[in-house]
Amino acid sequence: MKRAVYPGSFDPVTYGHLDVIRRASEMFDVLIVSVLNNKMKNPLFSVEERVRILKEATKNISNVQVDSFSGLLINYAAENNIHVAVRGLRAITDFEYELQIAQTNRKLSGGELDTVFLTTSLEYAYLSSSSVKEIASFGGNISECVPDFVAALMTEKYRKRGGVYEQQD
Ligand code: PNS
Repeated sequence: MKRAVYPGSFDPVTYGHLDVIRRASEMFDVLIVSVLNNKMKNPLFSVEERVRILKEATKNISNVQVDSFSGLLINYAAENNIHVAVRGLRAITDFEYELQIAQTNRKLSGGELDTVFLTTSLEYAYLSSSSVKEIASFGGNISECVPDFVAALMTEKYRKRGGVYEQQD
């Protein structure tokens, strides 16, 4: 069984992530989409909410599982007997950061964890969770960025917060 992990913050999952998930799910027997539990100080959605959202958004892809992890990705991968991480590359600006993480993970894991990059489909190359949050916080239209149920959940969150957008990264 070829298993891979697609790690990320997914706050929230966008059509760009879902495009990577769909394509990666066709390359591996099992794709585990795993939400990082300890990175952001002020996420829009809790880890539990993000896991629920991802499960709903991927419910029609039978070999996708959704999970969360804390700490180092290499430890999570080793505990789950996973040797491949999947990441999406939108533009050259992603490359330096992603290359560094991939090389660090390969080195730290003693070669046990490799990273496979999928180039994001051009129609989603402009998308990021941060920009989607900023647009939603000002009442903008995000219907082409995230599934409708995610847009509705975001609108509800920002209604409760009074539209305050907090930059996380
Ligand atoms: O969606 P993101 O925020 O770009 O995802 C980043 C992520 C979760 C892939 C990365 O921050 C990560 O794997 N963090 C876990 C901690 C870790 O293993 N760090 C070592 C690599 S430098």
